[in-house]
Amino acid sequence: MDSLLALSLLLLALYLARRALLGNKGRKNYPPIAGTVLHQLLNFGRLVEYQTELSRKHRTYRMLTPTCSYVYTVEPANVEHILRTNFANYGKGAMTHDVLEDLLGDGIFNVDGAKWRHQRKAASFEFSTRVLREYSTGVFRDTAAELAGIVAVAAARGERAVDMQDLLMRSTLDSIFQIGFGVRLGALSGSNEEGAAFARAFDDASEQVLYRFFDLLWKAKRLLNVSSEAAMKRSVRTINDFVYAVIDKKIEQMARDQHEFAKKEDILSRFLLEREKDPGCFDNKYLRDIILNFVIAGRDTSAGTLSWFLYVLCNNQHIQDKVAREVREATGTGDSDAAPAGVQEFIECLDEDAISKMQYLHAALTETLRLYPAVPIDVKYCFSDDTLPDGHAIRKGDMVNYQPYPMGRMKFLWGDDAEEFRPERWLDDDGAFVPESPYKFTAFQAGPRICLGKEFAYRQMKIFAAVLLYLFRFEMWERNSTMGFRPMLTLKMDGPLNVRVLPRRPSGQLA
Ligand code: HEM
Repeated sequence: MDSLLALSLLLLALYLARRALLGNKGRKNYPPIAGTVLHQLLNFGRLVEYQTELSRKHRTYRMLTPTCSYVYTVEPANVEHILRTNFANYGKGAMTHDVLEDLLGDGIFNVDGAKWRHQRKAASFEFSTRVLREYSTGVFRDTAAELAGIVAVAAARGERAVDMQDLLMRSTLDSIFQIGFGVRLGALSGSNEEGAAFARAFDDASEQVLYRFFDLLWKAKRLLNVSSEAAMKRSVRTINDFVYAVIDKKIEQMARDQHEFAKKEDILSRFLLEREKDPGCFDNKYLRDIILNFVIAGRDTSAGTLSWFLYVLCNNQHIQDKVAREVREATGTGDSDAAPAGVQEFIECLDEDAISKMQYLHAALTETLRLYPAVPIDVKYCFSDDTLPDGHAIRKGDMVNYQPYPMGRMKFLWGDDAEEFRPERWLDDDGAFVPESPYKFTAFQAGPRICLGKEFAYRQMKIFAAVLLYLFRFEMWERNSTMGFRPMLTLKMDGPLNVRVLPRRPSGQLA
């Protein structure tokens, strides 16, 4: 503690000495200093709350580090500047690329410039096709039905808590993996041993990679293949062996029956068919990187949001009932006390029309993302000196962060009830969802690099939520228990989401 304080003071002293040396000559209006990176380390376990407290004092501020400033903002005009107006000046940068490369490779998440543009174009095309939309809807519906089956068994036992966060993580991994690679992983059922090993390695690598951001010695450890880096190497090998085996198998299938293969709808098969037309346009490593990036992008984010959504609904039973009623109305499964439709019968009703009618559910999920954004703070590297719209100067090499979590809690953006969960704030007088500016509601980022899977994520979350709330009522296992955060790249809960699951009667009341 004392040494951290001493280091903090040293950083401040160095900063003040530099200022004294430069005098007033050409002095720029840099953002106010709210602390140093050491304060952040001291507050690591509650980083998002700490950043929120600082953001209440300064809309834009910086934290000193030995090499650069970490700049943080909640000002929508600044966010628009970083993400759109001066897009070319802010990117992933070399440091982030290095840290994430073993896991993400040169996938869309981890590259800038021409490499990013090429993948964005190819992926945007795939995501806009009807084939992928219909295929993914089918996968989401089947996975949601499988999940409901597992939850029903747990509910029937009654005496044991069900960890919904764990089940949701496994479900979203299964569905995104099937859409990406066309293979059933079996993470939810635990039916496939190799799939389970992949899922474990994938979780481990995602955690280990975050650790690198704070471990100054990670490169040396990797070179020596020791400690956390030896584990990272093992995880990455398991992931790669599994993914390359899937790719090889697909190539074999394609060689065996071109005609049959052309009907395949998963992303890997679509890319392999593209490669047939233009051999040499990309290699297997490219395929591994781009599809694995989708799995990473789409898995924790959707499962995390659904977990926070259930958590909030456990603490707001009237909102839970309202969503359940809307689901019944939108699917035409009636509001009488007639026997409820079975899962299979119900998922057949979940077509595009029914999903788009669920405006209150859409608002409740969006409200969840406003208060619990899956990516709570997002960093960009500044490529050259710049000035933000609020007049603050940024130096080349600074790390500039827009902050979805603190932004969701700012009264100047959302009014006095900013911290209240109120889906109605997203609805007009007719109950229709009204979107906000993406520079104010920043959960999906904004500008040219806005989340590519936004529509996809809403569809998945709405299908999962509809199936779960049609069949069950959820309560916290321990009444009044609150969930905290785990320091991760995405906003994870700091423990299992233990709930009590009860069957729901058609009227929305308890059976
Ligand atoms: C609740 C769910 C989701 C949230 C909140 C979310 C949020 C985000 C955010 C904040 C970014 C920007 C990350 C950065 O570059 O720093 C992003 C990028 C991205 N997301 Fe999502 N995401 C979600 C679900 C998904 C899903 C389901 C997919 C695809 C299956 C997906 C695909 C992507 C891709 C490919 C990018 C990179 C875009 C680019 O760099 O051009 N996301 N997402």
